[in-house]
Amino acid sequence: MARFQTPLRYPGGKQRLAPFITEILEHNDAVGWGYAEPYAGGAGIAIELLLGGTVDHIYLNDSSRHIYAFWKAILTDTEAFCRRVSRASLTLDSWQKHREVVRHPGDHDILDLGFSTFFLNRCNRSGILTAGVIGGLNQVGRWRIDARFPRNELIKRIETIATKKRRITVTNLDAEAFMRDRVNKLPPSTLTYCDPPYYARAKRLYLNVYTPDDHVRLAKFIQSKLRRAWLVSYDSHAAISELYRKRRQFQYSIQYSAIQAYEGTECFIFSDSLKIPRDSALPYIAQALRQPA
Ligand SMILES: C[S@@+](CC[C@H](N)C(=O)[O-])C[C@H]1O[C@@H](n2cnc3c(N)ncnc32)[C@H](O)[C@@H]1O
Repeated sequence: MARFQTPLRYPGGKQRLAPFITEILEHNDAVGWGYAEPYAGGAGIAIELLLGGTVDHIYLNDSSRHIYAFWKAILTDTEAFCRRVSRASLTLDSWQKHREVVRHPGDHDILDLGFSTFFLNRCNRSGILTAGVIGGLNQVGRWRIDARFPRNELIKRIETIATKKRRITVTNLDAEAFMRDRVNKLPPSTLTYCDPPYYARAKRLYLNVYTPDDHVRLAKFIQSKLRRAWLVSYDSHAAISELYRKRRQFQYSIQYSAIQAYEGTECFIFSDSLKIPRDSALPYIAQALRQPA
């Protein structure tokens, strides 16, 4: 089995935290619950939880039409999508064509936009849609445009996910609208995991970023209007700790690589209704849990 199962590359992708979310679900007798991600991106955790049988249904939302188109296309047009993966021409010419599609998302249907998004995600540096192609325009160096495009492995991941399509709901809403209009109407046995754009270092990573005011509004919304159990992760920042000061939170350190590897300190914040495990099989989480709050 592949180490990670999402087909998308995401800087700061959270799939390696799936074991910790599983521990939280187990600790709260919540295995088999529904699971919602308002900021799904590569949905690394959601996919691991669903394929591992830890949750029963996943609700993936992202306000980016690109990301939405990818998830929608692989679930509704699996065969055509996989055919494109198997036949994709990994050349600069086709990279330029896909970049034009990505630059004009409103002009293309879901399959075209979803596939072009996937193509750039696999062929650009760090999977960033606005970054350059791996190997540069001269295609020199050790890694070239095809370095992250293992066709058969990617097709396998997509087909495996598509076998669970009845247990996956995909939406293209603003996160707060999604939580207000969708999550709040789901059964109480639903966990929501929010992974919003970073507070401090979002700009170079994503197409859509949040201003400080957006983070303030989101914190108010989650703490006063979200009526299901939730957890939030963020890059560590005093402003975020302050916004969630009445909630339990802890910080942990993890190594990321986006263009350059760097050590990031992140934090987790929990809704009052959730019990936090005292230990974790993930060493960096276990260490963080042992530190006094
Ligand atoms: C930090 S990434 C999520 C990464 C994801 N947890 C993973 O492991 O791949 C944030 C995602 O939120 C999306 N996003 C940004 N602003 C949003 C908003 N207002 N509503 C919903 N999604 C948003 C971005 O398109 C991006 O895909």
